[in-house]
Amino acid sequence: MDIDRLIKKDEVHRDVYVSEEVFSLEMDRIFGSAWIYVGHDSQIPNPGDYWTTRIGLQSVVMTRGKRDEINIFYNRCPHKGARIAEEGCGHTNGLFRCPYHAWTFNLDGKLRGVPYLDGYQDTSFDLTDPRFSLRKVARVAAYRGFVFASLAEDGAEFEDFLAGVKSSLDNFCDRAPEGTVSVAGGVFRVVQRSNWKIFFENLNDTGHPIATHESSYRAARQYSEEVLDGELPFELHIIDGNGAPPKFWSDLDLHAFDYGHSYMTAIFNAPDDPLSQQYFASLAAKVGEDRAEDILAVNRHNTIIYPSCSPHTSFQQWRVIRPLSVDRTLVEIFTFRLDGAPDELLQRTFTYSNVVNSPSSIVMTDDVHVYAECQKGLSTQGGDWVSQHRNAGQDQPYSGSEGGLIGVGTSELPIRNQFRAWHEYMSEGSGQSVSPEAS
Ligand SMILES: [Fe+2]
Repeated sequence: MDIDRLIKKDEVHRDVYVSEEVFSLEMDRIFGSAWIYVGHDSQIPNPGDYWTTRIGLQSVVMTRGKRDEINIFYNRCPHKGARIAEEGCGHTNGLFRCPYHAWTFNLDGKLRGVPYLDGYQDTSFDLTDPRFSLRKVARVAAYRGFVFASLAEDGAEFEDFLAGVKSSLDNFCDRAPEGTVSVAGGVFRVVQRSNWKIFFENLNDTGHPIATHESSYRAARQYSEEVLDGELPFELHIIDGNGAPPKFWSDLDLHAFDYGHSYMTAIFNAPDDPLSQQYFASLAAKVGEDRAEDILAVNRHNTIIYPSCSPHTSFQQWRVIRPLSVDRTLVEIFTFRLDGAPDELLQRTFTYSNVVNSPSSIVMTDDVHVYAECQKGLSTQGGDWVSQHRNAGQDQPYSGSEGGLIGVGTSELPIRNQFRAWHEYMSEGSGQSVSPEAS
């Protein structure tokens, strides 16, 4: 496939969203090589705990081994191919047993036992041959409990891959008085009827809220005026925010980095209420008031860790993006507890997730609707190219310590940045993208 045909400096061909052939190549060249988020180590606190998810279209199992190590292997019995663990989380008492013929495996994936072993005499079967054990994924790495894997032996080092957005993961955890976070509650799941890249583009797209979310912020304002005498409690405040005037959005900062990553500065502040004060006291008691102020001064909206996840550092929410097919995308929404913080703070995180991103949210439904409309429109013969022109050529190198590029809040910088990485991966490169000035 001629990848260069699909992408220009500030436009992409509609085939990147609608072609089955492109999707299948993405599964191979992007999801088959990039560092993909698998899960958080708090999901598997004890040896034998496991979490089953997917990397691209590959079903994988993340489990904690006897020596507390984290193992990730393909979810495929080497005998007949059955999956050895169902999707979701679970616990096994020291071994995995295939549901089909009861082959058993240690927590590190090594084959332990096979029924009717005598029958394998004088065959090429060998209990110790790795091809009869569960196959491990090529590379596993973790940072502050967030576990990623790459299906490729070679490629970018995890440290290099993460560098641009490492500060977001630090802030995510530094906000906890204990310095660690844990997954809390279950997981929201939303299947979007659109290509996975449409969701990624939206995460730092500040040009859309005023239009897309008009129905929800108007409803919030109407409810406030007619029922609450003009008061805006936290739940309504975060819906109302999407109706901020254009200048508010363009005054935000967008930061973009190699490998398609980016983040935008915050659009919501936590309310200054007794709970926030209690939380600040719990953090300051551990790290000191000055440090606590510095930590909370880092206030970001969505961070993008391309191509698999998006943490929201200020409200401890983590979204995972799993492509299902060219026009179906699963988004999973996890909420985290700040270890050592007041319990009520977790309630605020749940409130944020419920109001903004859960399947019952009136905000998320606005987005999911327009993503599906894009997918439908892109499938027509109404035009071949998709514009990414807004503020193109105006992105500047950022002089701060993080480096990368900076753009005005309403720039399409993050989208162009994702497609530079996309092009690099699809051309069988490592995904590290060069700056637009150099390209
Ligand atoms: Fe939105």
